[in-house]
Amino acid sequence: MAYLELSGLTKRYRDSVAVDGLSLSVERGESVALLGPSGCGKTTTLRMLAGLVEPNEGVIALDGAEITRTAAHRRNMGYVFQSYALFPHLDVARNIGFGLEERGVARAEREQRVEDALQLVRLQGLGHRRPRELSGGQQQRVALARALVIRPSVLLLDESLSNLDAKLRDAMRHEIREIQRSLAITTLFVTHDQVEALTMCDRIAVMNRGRIAQIGSATDIYERPATRFVATFVGRANMLPAERGADGRLTLWGEALPAAAPSGGEVDVFVRPQRLKLAPAGEPAGADMARVSGHVLNSVFVGDHIEVIVAGPGGQRLTVEIQSGDAPPPDGAEVAVMWRAQDTLVFPREAA
Ligand SMILES: Nc1ncnc2c1ncn2[C@@H]1O[C@H](COP(=O)(O)OP(=O)(O)O)[C@@H](O)[C@H]1O
Ligand SMILES: [Mg+2]
Repeated sequence: MAYLELSGLTKRYRDSVAVDGLSLSVERGESVALLGPSGCGKTTTLRMLAGLVEPNEGVIALDGAEITRTAAHRRNMGYVFQSYALFPHLDVARNIGFGLEERGVARAEREQRVEDALQLVRLQGLGHRRPRELSGGQQQRVALARALVIRPSVLLLDESLSNLDAKLRDAMRHEIREIQRSLAITTLFVTHDQVEALTMCDRIAVMNRGRIAQIGSATDIYERPATRFVATFVGRANMLPAERGADGRLTLWGEALPAAAPSGGEVDVFVRPQRLKLAPAGEPAGADMARVSGHVLNSVFVGDHIEVIVAGPGGQRLTVEIQSGDAPPPDGAEVAVMWRAQDTLVFPREAA
């Protein structure tokens, strides 16, 4: 049994199912991201873990003991809300020490632990300030310190970086990851931002409609997406309808596709833009390569790479990513687009 076990967790509201039979195992010290679009049930899952929402069905177990209906304050979960939820009338030190006061920790120990927490999040000397006298990033650190000071069994972070500007967010990602690692604290990290999930966690659980669509390492999720939803939600993707010939084999843009076709039904072909290569029109495909032909619509310089948009029959498009040092072919040029057969994934169309 893992340190934290969620099994069959379900939360229904009057007119919707927010979380739908979700199961997840998290090892001690592990950091797992819940990644998914808005409304897929991420916050509801965290709130059930924290004891703020009661599940209709399912079981939560922590360190071998069931806590499904244990009161929130007896679960020892550190919760960092999206809005930080600091007490505006209390200074930083009392904000951080609040959970310790609640737990009846003696004053001297409380002061020491608050001081340590301030140091951990690099806010030494700011304990006397009010939250409004801090920047967004500093407030975020206070919220983190407040969650960590109770030495939580599990740290729950709900989109905690989304109110910060891009640069600060980047810095905080690294800081939180460092703290999480150095304290070896079991963490569930909720985000709709794939970079955050990919950079901050040991494993990623991609959620869709109240369920986990796939769980695995960043590489698993990115290179071997299990469903169409995961393939398109994480990373950039080309997704094109394939045709199925009389012999059952797949073709794309009229050319044979070296990829296994799942039996029956319509399918889409998926390939990452950075796996595609451009070649002069008419260049034959090598062994174990897929190839289609089209013409360049236009190229977009995106900073660290260039996106070349190639149009095929019927206006379908493929995005090819090339290095920004390479010169893209001129607009209108006839080109071949090639990729390794193994980089092709095929998904049934209806299983969106
Ligand atoms: N208190 C509530 N009452 C009714 N519906 C809710 C409530 N909380 C959440 N929901 C619904 O449950 C679904 C999941 O919500 P939430 O867990 O907040 O998603 P996420 O955090 O992934 O954006 C949404 O459709 C949301 O509207
Ligand atoms: Mg949410």
